[in-house]
Amino acid sequence: MKVDVLLGLQWGDEGKGKVVDVLTPDYDLITRFQGGPNAGHTLEFEGKKFVLRSIPSGIFQGDKINVIGNGVVLDPALFKAEVDALEVSGHPLTERLKISKKAHLILPTHRLLDAAYESAKGSGKIGTTGKGIGPTYTDKVSRNGVRVGDILHNFEEKYNIAIARHKGILKQYNFEYDLPELEKNWFEGIECIKRFELIDSEYFINDAIKNEKKVLAEGAQGTMLDIDFGSYPFVTSSNTICAGACTGLGVAPGNIGEVYGIFKAYCTRVGSGPFPTELFSEIGDNMRKIGFEFGSVTGRPRRCGWIDLVALKYAVMINGVTQLIMMKSDVLDSFETIKACVAYKIDGQEVEQFPFDLNDGAEPIFVDLPGWKTDMTNMQSEDEFPEEFNNYLSFLEEELEVPIKIVSVGPDRAQTVIRYQN
Ligand code: GDP
Ligand code: IMO
Ligand code: MG
Repeated sequence: MKVDVLLGLQWGDEGKGKVVDVLTPDYDLITRFQGGPNAGHTLEFEGKKFVLRSIPSGIFQGDKINVIGNGVVLDPALFKAEVDALEVSGHPLTERLKISKKAHLILPTHRLLDAAYESAKGSGKIGTTGKGIGPTYTDKVSRNGVRVGDILHNFEEKYNIAIARHKGILKQYNFEYDLPELEKNWFEGIECIKRFELIDSEYFINDAIKNEKKVLAEGAQGTMLDIDFGSYPFVTSSNTICAGACTGLGVAPGNIGEVYGIFKAYCTRVGSGPFPTELFSEIGDNMRKIGFEFGSVTGRPRRCGWIDLVALKYAVMINGVTQLIMMKSDVLDSFETIKACVAYKIDGQEVEQFPFDLNDGAEPIFVDLPGWKTDMTNMQSEDEFPEEFNNYLSFLEEELEVPIKIVSVGPDRAQTVIRYQN
């Protein structure tokens, strides 16, 4: 069987966690391929709510195997906190979770470097999640990283070399810190990682493919945060796009099956950087209030705006999206008019192509669509959808040239309308 990929098409927080949980019964393996605890994936079911950071969202369904792939960066301290919280709530993980030996470790000093770099950037800061993501991937690419598999071989030596390097850099930034305090939690986290099977995940996943197992790859962040194709430099430090699933799991391109692209019926972004359709009005405030748009990990208010079809078309192209999933449609239930950005005006010219530098100022050109003004949160089938909502779906499908398979009408697992089976 091929590996299906589910990934965000906007600036993250599209609702990936919820949908992976919904789709998990159809799969044997759920895998994470990039990012780290900068992710916050929310799942709600049976009156309970969980936020996952590094652990794949298939973890709540007992007979499934979850894999943290080689492309992920793992913070032992945060990983332990996540494991502890899940186990306390009655979800034993040891049998269900495996970790790639090739995943890189976020060292305590990576978080300090993240803070030091951000503060040095002043008003140009990225607004990172402060989890040490950029510095960890930087060390990976510059061949200075420490990997999960190193825990089993000369670990202390590798750790000490890396920490000494980081201390030198932190000194240049005059950055103050209390390392022993951070190290205590971090090394407890290392003990926690040792409880899990550390695997050559590329073999594990390719064996599963050969043995006709169904594999789902769960993306983190979103296409607009991709290191190559996002709104650079206001991006994360990994390839969040479909190709990232190949490098982050060791899966050949020909073994990728469906590519599920997930987006909100509107758009949000957290942190700094350009956002052409951002709303600074009461409408944006309402989206934030109704959609409870606050960061799952940081609690930061998310910036809200209308759907951006220039960016979405770009994301569909880059990822080779085969099916779409639209989230949070219920947030627009009370809106009189829905706007969709179909082009940008840049230097007086109308463009439909995503520009080289979104920071140069792209003014959105909108079309208006009538709102549906109907509470959709209890709808279970598309037969119940109001006409204006169906028109919105048709409009998006026509623009994006990809069918919308799933519509989400609320945060709970049960508030999901699957329009057709594959
Ligand atoms: P992820 O990072 O892509 O997994 O998304 P997050 O969990 O960070 O953010 C999505 C937020 O929207 C979470 O609070 C979800 O519980 C919530 N959510 C997901 N789907 C829906 C939906 O259809 N309607 C509403 N109102 N909330 C949703
Ligand atoms: P999920 O998986 C939304 C954003 C940060 C910042 C930029 C770089 O929950 O969708 P980083 O810490 O990665 O160096 O921050 O990327 N960012 C996210 N925004 N959802 C996420 O993950 C994000 N992960 C990182 O806010 O702007
Ligand atoms: Mg999130």
